[in-house]
Amino acid sequence: MKQYDVAVIGGGPAGYLAAERASEAGLCTLLVEKREVGGVCLNEGCIPTKTLLYSGKLYEYASGEGKTFGVTCKDAQLHHEEVVKRKETVIKTLVGGVSAALKRKKADVFYADASIRKETQGFVISCESNEFLAKTVILATGSEPVIPGIPGVSEGILDGSVLTSREILDLKEIPKELVIVGAGVIGIEMAAYFNIAGSRVTVVEMLEQAGGPIDKDAAEVLQKELEKKGIRFHMKSRVCDVSNNTALVGQDGKQIKLPYDKLLMCVGRKAVTDVPGLTELGVYTERGAIVTDERCQTNIPGLYAAGDVNGKYMLAHVAYREAEVAVNNIIGIADWMDYSAIPGVIYTQPEVSFAGLTEQQARDTGMDIQIKKVTINMSGRHIAEHGMSEGFCKLVIDRKKQIIVGASLVSAYASEIIYAVTLMIQNKIPLESIRRSVFPHPTVCEIIREAVFS
Ligand code: NAI
Repeated sequence: MKQYDVAVIGGGPAGYLAAERASEAGLCTLLVEKREVGGVCLNEGCIPTKTLLYSGKLYEYASGEGKTFGVTCKDAQLHHEEVVKRKETVIKTLVGGVSAALKRKKADVFYADASIRKETQGFVISCESNEFLAKTVILATGSEPVIPGIPGVSEGILDGSVLTSREILDLKEIPKELVIVGAGVIGIEMAAYFNIAGSRVTVVEMLEQAGGPIDKDAAEVLQKELEKKGIRFHMKSRVCDVSNNTALVGQDGKQIKLPYDKLLMCVGRKAVTDVPGLTELGVYTERGAIVTDERCQTNIPGLYAAGDVNGKYMLAHVAYREAEVAVNNIIGIADWMDYSAIPGVIYTQPEVSFAGLTEQQARDTGMDIQIKKVTINMSGRHIAEHGMSEGFCKLVIDRKKQIIVGASLVSAYASEIIYAVTLMIQNKIPLESIRRSVFPHPTVCEIIREAVFS
C-alpha cells in the first residue's frame, strides 16, 4: 500500500490548491477526484458563468448601449452556441493548467470515487481496487445544487424541463420563457445572461430582497437595474408545484401560473459529504456540512475539511485560503481563518461587491456605527465610461475605532475594487491612514476615498 503524508479528496479549488501547497511543502501528496480537476468553479460555476456574462456584456454594447458612446454596430447578434463553445475552450485551458500544475508539483492524481476508513497506521483511502495509506486527509468534496421537494420538480429534471445551474450552462438553444427559482447569486447571474441572450426571464424569490445576504441598498439598486433591462421579479413568492411546463406560484395569498420552456432551480447549494466511510469515522456534521474549527480541523485528529464541504462560505476564494490553512496546520505552521472580511461579488451590469458586515449585520452586533455613502456619479471615470447611474459606495464605520467594518459597492469594476476595502477591513486600517493615501486618478476606486472623506 503506497503511503502518503496527505491525501486530498476532491479536486476543486480547495482540493487542488491543498494538493499543490502540500507538494510544494515537500509532503508526499495524493489527490483523488471522481470527475475532472477544477471542481464546480472551473467546470460549471465561477468561470463558465463569467465567460457567458462577458459575451452578454459585449452584445449589450454592440446591440444598443454603445449608441450612448457614439458606437453603433449593424446587425449585432449573439450566437449562443458559439458562446457555449468558447466557454468549453476556456474550461479546457484552465483545467489543463491545474492538471499541469499538479504534475509539475509532483502530486499524485487518481481519478476515482474514494472511500475512507481509519486504521491504526492512519487513514486508508480506497479507490476502486487500489488502497492508499495517508497520515492526514483533507476533505474537499465541495457542494451540489439543492433540489427542493416541490411537486413535479423530480419529473421535470428527468424530462429536461427543470434544470440546475449545472445543466443550463450546456443548453444549445436559448429558452423563450425562462423561470428562475431563487434570486440568490446564481439566480441573478443566470437571469442577467439569459435575459441579454433573448429569454423572457421571470425570477421567483421567497424573500423580500434579491442577491442573497447583501446590503439592502445594494439589493434595491440591483433589482431595479435588472428590471430596467426587462427581467421580471416575483418577490415574497414561492413555487408550490410544477407540471406541464407551468409553475404554480404562491404570492400574497394568491396563486399565479407562470408558463416556461425551462425552469431553473437556484435555491442554494448543499455540502457533499457522501464519501463512503465518513459517517463511520464519527465526524461531526451540522446542517449537512462538516464541522470545522478556524484551523479547518474536524473533530477527528488528522482529518481536515476545506471549501464548500464545511458549509461556511460557499465561495472558491474562501476555499483557497482554507486549503492553505489546512496544509499549514498539517506541516506545523500555526495558521487560522479570519472570516471578518470575506469579499463577494455579483457579476451583473453594474457589478455588486461587498466585504465585511452589512449595515444591518453591524447594527445587530450592537456596534455604534456611522454610514458613509456616496453616489458613484462622484467618479469621473465612471461617468466617462458608463454615464450617470444609480450605483454607490457604502461604508459601514465603527464610530469609536474609526475603522471600516463593512463595504458595499454597486458600480463598474466593483469586483476589482473590493479587494482594497477587504484589506482595509481585515487589517483595521484607520480612516486617517486611508485619507493620507494616494488613489490613482481617474479610477472608479477613488470612490472609496470620496466615501471616507464624506
Ligand atoms: P443562495 O443561497 O445564494 O440563494 C438562493 C435563493 O433562493 C435565496 O434567496 C432563497 O431565499 C431562495 N429560495 C430558496 N427556496 C426557494 C423557493 N422554494 N422559492 C423561491 N425562492 C427560494 O443560493 P445560490 O444562488 O444557489 O448560490 C449558492 C452558492 O454559490 C452561494 O453560496 C453563492 O455564494 C455561491 N456562488 C457565488 C457566486 C459568486 O460569487 N459570484 C456565483 C455563483 C454561486
